[in-house]
Amino acid sequence: MRLLSLLILFLMLFNCKLDKKSTMVQEKAAPQRGELSWESQIFLGNRLFSEKTCITCHDVNKTKIGPSVKEIMKIYKEENGDIVAFLRGKAKPIVDTTSAQVAIMQANIDGFLQNISDEELQTIATYMQHVDELNRD
Ligand code: HEC
Repeated sequence: MRLLSLLILFLMLFNCKLDKKSTMVQEKAAPQRGELSWESQIFLGNRLFSEKTCITCHDVNKTKIGPSVKEIMKIYKEENGDIVAFLRGKAKPIVDTTSAQVAIMQANIDGFLQNISDEELQTIATYMQHVDELNRD
């Protein structure tokens, strides 16, 4: 019996220690989490560009169902546009403003991009910029 209570006491102490440790780790980890590096953004953006099906309509160089990434980036640079704001539904389209085309893209913003964080949207924008730079002529 004594042994058992000792064991319980020991377990309780041990648990306490563990708890303390895990909160300490959390407290330490939270402020340390900085911005994603350029490379990580490209990596994640590339993944999201397929996962969120962007790639089915946006080729790098050629117009598919939607304008090519090169064309989009060209206009966004010229007009100093904000891709993240557009993908958030907070900025109007500036590449192709034909209503049928806008509606196709809008369906993606309302669908695939509903539950995505701003940080993730930024990785998509970074990836598009990277692809554009890689394919300079
Ligand atoms: C079903 C086809 C389709 C899919 C999937 C799709 N798009 Fe589009 N996208 C379009 C069409 C069509 C346009 C042209 C209309 C427009 O410019 O808004 C467009 C336009 C755009 C534009 C330019 C908007 C502007 O300012 O005119 C961006 C940026 C863009 N798409 C990014 C994305 C991203 C990122 C994804 C994936 C999350 C995606 N698209 C998925 C069809 C698609």
